[in-house]
Amino acid sequence: MAQITEIKNQQKLQGLALQLDKIIHGDCLDVIKILPNESIDLIVTSPPYADNRKKSYKGIPTNKYVQWFLPISYELERVLKSEGSFVLNIKERTADGERQTYVLELILEMRRQGWLWTEEYIWHKKNCYPGKWPNRFRDAWERCLHFTKQKRFKMFQQAVMVPMGSWAEKRLTKLSDTDRIRDESRSLSGFGKNVSNWLGKKYVYPTNVLHLATECSNRNHSAAFPISLPSWFIKLFTEPGDIVLDPFIGSGTTALACIELDRHYIGIELMEDYYKLALEAVDSHRRLVAAVRRSNGKHRRTPESDKQMSPRLL
Ligand SMILES: C[S@@+](CC[C@H](N)C(=O)[O-])C[C@H]1O[C@@H](n2cnc3c(N)ncnc32)[C@H](O)[C@@H]1O
Repeated sequence: MAQITEIKNQQKLQGLALQLDKIIHGDCLDVIKILPNESIDLIVTSPPYADNRKKSYKGIPTNKYVQWFLPISYELERVLKSEGSFVLNIKERTADGERQTYVLELILEMRRQGWLWTEEYIWHKKNCYPGKWPNRFRDAWERCLHFTKQKRFKMFQQAVMVPMGSWAEKRLTKLSDTDRIRDESRSLSGFGKNVSNWLGKKYVYPTNVLHLATECSNRNHSAAFPISLPSWFIKLFTEPGDIVLDPFIGSGTTALACIELDRHYIGIELMEDYYKLALEAVDSHRRLVAAVRRSNGKHRRTPESDKQMSPRLL
């Protein structure tokens, strides 16, 4: 009997996994296993924190975290296209007065697994409440680890350019002689700069620190990230029509970002309540985005036309 149920579940999953723009209810390891090789352009996700949230969903003990994650990252590596990216939003917890080291250990193990640890972005939670702890200050940032399969990967830096800012007016009106040539950096790192290159420019490239406010209180999920977080990475690493996977989709934030940016998504969520929450969020966001586009008077894709047009993964 258990075997029949298992086979039925597998059949159900196979049917679902071949379709885009779906949130799938299940354990991500089971679901990712049935996705085709090299079918995903970007993976962006925030997995459960170690042990932290036992009450709301299955917590992973700190000392088992790496062991728990590695089979998942193995499958993620298989389904990611060779020029794709994997952005892992994670932060190690503290226990017994110390920062735990499982994220650092995970990075090392994932490198052994074949991943390149290409970059580390920092999400600075700019609306962090004040607080008081005896041995540290309030935690106001999280890691967004960027892994790739090879050194050459898709990256659209212009998509995330930011306004130059008012500092430029002052700085660029008083250029010194060294500002007008490629000035060798003082650390001799070889990364010199020619400040005059930025004269007349309205937009510049951002840094690897993202200053974004949290949005948990209006998302009904205790660990939701703000929609601007997956949006930023989706713009940076994908083009419209690409496929984004979030194996721990929670309240559906990554799917909402994909709807806004005309990317396809596949989301996976273990907890039934969150799965339903994500479905509702996706549904109302689709309607909202369609209404906004209609009111803008532009001819844009609709959920209906999308359903007909969505290419299959196989
Ligand atoms: C940190 S939350 C993600 C929140 C999400 N980024 C959002 O904005 O709502 C992690 C989610 O992973 C889910 N989860 C935990 N273990 C899972 C598993 N094995 N497979 C799929 N989802 C899982 C949890 O139920 C939780 O909703």
